[in-house]
Amino acid sequence: MENKMKILICYFSGTGNTRMVVNKYVENLKNEGVETDLYKIESNNFQHDVTDYEMIGIAYPVHAFNAPSIILDFAKSLPECARKRVFIVNTSGEPLKLNNISSIKLRKILKNKGYNVTNEYHYCMPYNIIFRHTDNMAYKMWKTAQEVIPVDCKELLSGKYSLLEDVFMGSFIAWLFRIEHWGGRFNGKRYKVSENCIHCGKCVNICPTHNITLKDGEFHFGKNCLMCMRCSFLCPKSAIKIGLFEKWKVNGTYNFNNANKFEDEVHKNYCKKSYERYFRECEEKVSAVKVNVMQEEDEDEIKNIVKV
Ligand SMILES: Cc1cc2nc3c(=O)[nH]c(=O)nc-3n(C[C@H](O)[C@H](O)[C@H](O)COP(=O)(O)O)c2cc1C
Ligand code: SF4
Ligand code: SF4
Repeated sequence: MENKMKILICYFSGTGNTRMVVNKYVENLKNEGVETDLYKIESNNFQHDVTDYEMIGIAYPVHAFNAPSIILDFAKSLPECARKRVFIVNTSGEPLKLNNISSIKLRKILKNKGYNVTNEYHYCMPYNIIFRHTDNMAYKMWKTAQEVIPVDCKELLSGKYSLLEDVFMGSFIAWLFRIEHWGGRFNGKRYKVSENCIHCGKCVNICPTHNITLKDGEFHFGKNCLMCMRCSFLCPKSAIKIGLFEKWKVNGTYNFNNANKFEDEVHKNYCKKSYERYFRECEEKVSAVKVNVMQEEDEDEIKNIVKV
């Protein structure tokens, strides 16, 4: 029996965007005949043998131009593994090139353990903090990601290396912004629950670090907050106040499936050029592959005609 290529993708997703992207990877890799295992990092129960896999993927949302601390801690906990190929997948709300620095620390940790980070892919997905993107934008981002992911999967499997462009002083900037790891824990202790709460218990159950406890009707937020926004984003009553960042809170899932032409585009000028560049580059990437496929089909047809 033919041995299938095996890939393990380890991921963290605060509010579901990265998970959507990872699911698309699994679907596309499966179409390419690859067996993909998934590991949800927050489950804290890593039992996979990395030597069983040809490649390891690590996926996360960009937090303050960095990978979340849970990702770095996970990478530190991995066993040493000489030359094991790793690819990184990340999602972020805006398409600024500065987001390219998010993997610097992660790549360093992996390199020190012998891993070989060869590919990195980034997708824009709607914000879960700062402001609410429109559903139109969420629809466009997700549609774009779904078109580009098959192209990226093919590139990954072709063996071609592809890393994101370096940013001047990237390591220093990323180091500065890693204050968010400490700041998140500091701010997380300042979360409060408003009178709108219906005591459904959802936030307590879904927090990836079990940082929320409910005792005698009182909520307690501990010191392990990742600022992942899951609790405040998914609270059915928008009852969680996120400390110093309350003004940036985004509550409620996006509708990724229906563009809504009547929707107000309040932030339409925010990073406008960067979004235009991102969508244009994705479109070019996808159409370049289509042209190649058409050329190959034409060549095959000519060969067949010549044979006849
Ligand atoms: C604490 C925090 C910091 C963030 N920092 C950035 C950032 O530096 N750049 C960016 O483009 N998006 C940033 N975002 C937005 C997320 O990266 C984006 O919405 C991502 O798709 C969320 O993925 P998830 O649903 O898998 O958690 C941040 C989100 C959070 C919660
Ligand atoms: S999810 Fe919201 S409504 Fe439910 S218990 Fe938590 S704060 Fe209250
Ligand atoms: S308290 Fe909320 S924001 Fe903090 S880690 Fe838990 S779910 Fe995420």
